[in-house]
Amino acid sequence: MDLYEFQAKELFAKHGVPTQSGEVVRTPSHAFEAAERIGGLVVVKAQVKTGGRGKAGGVKLAKDPAEARERAHDILGLDIKGHVVHQVLVTPAADIAEEYYVSLLLDRANRTFLAMASKEGGVEIEQLAVERPDALAKVVVDPLVGVDRAKADEIVDAAGFDDSVREQVVAILEKLWDVFVREDATLVEVNPLVKTPTGEVLALDGKVSLDGNADFRHPDHEALVDSSAEDPLELRAKEKDLNYVKLQGSVGIIGNGAGLVMSTLDVVAYAGEEFGGQSPANFLDIGGGASAQVMADGLEIILSDADVRSVFVNVFGGITACDEVANGIVQALEMLAAKGEAVTKPLVVRLDGNNADVGRQILRDAGNPLVELVDTMDDAARRVAELAAQGA
Ligand SMILES: Nc1ncnc2c1ncn2[C@@H]1O[C@H](COP(=O)(O)OP(=O)(O)OP(=O)(O)O)[C@@H](O)[C@H]1O
Ligand SMILES: [Mg+2]
Repeated sequence: MDLYEFQAKELFAKHGVPTQSGEVVRTPSHAFEAAERIGGLVVVKAQVKTGGRGKAGGVKLAKDPAEARERAHDILGLDIKGHVVHQVLVTPAADIAEEYYVSLLLDRANRTFLAMASKEGGVEIEQLAVERPDALAKVVVDPLVGVDRAKADEIVDAAGFDDSVREQVVAILEKLWDVFVREDATLVEVNPLVKTPTGEVLALDGKVSLDGNADFRHPDHEALVDSSAEDPLELRAKEKDLNYVKLQGSVGIIGNGAGLVMSTLDVVAYAGEEFGGQSPANFLDIGGGASAQVMADGLEIILSDADVRSVFVNVFGGITACDEVANGIVQALEMLAAKGEAVTKPLVVRLDGNNADVGRQILRDAGNPLVELVDTMDDAARRVAELAAQGA
C-alpha cells in the first residue's frame, strides 16, 4: 500500500525523522483556516499517490491565508496523472539552501535492500537518474545489518554530501531505516531532503510503500487505508478475502492457484491478440478449497465489472476435485439467479486434473446455455477471447 505524503511524514515523525507537520484539508476555506493557524508563508500540496505533483501544478506557495485558499481552490480537483486531488496538505514553507534525495528500498531484481542518495535532489531526480546516473549513489544494504552508523557513513560518502551536513544526514538515514524495518515498508523515499539556510536538514516530502504481507503485524496500519482511493471492486473482493486484482481488459478470469491464474492471464492476452486485442479484466485466485460460496463471490465480483464481456473459469483439480468445483459453479449460478443477479455473460470452463470427467458431466447435466466446456487451456483462451470480441 502506498501512503500519502502526510501519512509518510507522520511515520517519519513517529521515528524521529525531522520533518514538518501541517494540516490536511478538503476545501479552500479549511485551507484558509489551516494557513491562519500555521501563520506566515505556507505551501499547499496536492495529496495524491503519484509522483510529479510539483511539475503538474500541485505544489504552490501562499503568502497568507487568502492566497492559501486560492491555491487550494486551484489544486483541489486537479487531475494529476489520473489521480484526482481530493485533499491538500497545508504546511509551513521552508527556506531551502540545498535539496537532496535519499531512499531505502527493496531491490527485488538483486534480492537485497538498497539505499540511494544524491546531493542533487528535487523534482528533476528522475531525469538525473537517467542522464547522470553517477550523481545518484546506490549502496547495497545487508538486511541482517541494516543501516547502522558505518553504512550511513558509506551512503553519505558515496553521495558526496558536504561534511557540514554529515551528522544530520547519518542520523536521518538511521531513522529512515527504522521506518523501513519497523513499519515493514518496501520503499521509504525523501525528495527533497533539504538543508535550510541555517544548516538544518529536514524532510520536505515523503513517499512510503508498506508491505501488505506484513499487515498482520501492524493493526495500526489499518487506519492508513483510504478506501475512497481504492478500486471499488478490489475493496469488495478484499472484504470477501478473495485474491483479486482489477486489470484493464474484457475477459474475466477465475482460477485456482496463483501460478495457474498467472499463466491464464498470459494465454488469454496471447489469444486475445487475434481478436482485436482482448485481454484479461482481472486476476482472481480462488485458492484450494473452492466452495460454491467462494465461486459465487468470485463470479459476482467479476460479473459486476462493466468491462467484462466473457469469463474464463480455469480449474486444475487437485486436492479439491473437479466435481466439487463443477458443483460449485452450478450452485454459484443458482445462487446469483436467486439473488436476482442472473448471469448473462458467457462462461468458458476448462476443467482438468482430479475427477475432471465427472466435473464436466455435472456441468453438461446442468445444461446452462451460457456455460461452454472446452478441454484445453489454449482452446479455452481462444474461445473466451472470441466471445469477448463478439460481446463488444
Ligand atoms: N514545505 C515546503 N517549503 C518550501 N518548498 C517546498 C515545500 N514542500 C515542497 N517544496 C518545493 O516543491 C518541490 C516539490 O515538492 P514535493 O517534492 O513535495 O513534490 P513533488 O516532488 O513534485 O512530488 P513527488 O515527490 O510526488 O514527485 C520541492 O522540491 C521543493 O522545492
Ligand atoms: Mg518530491
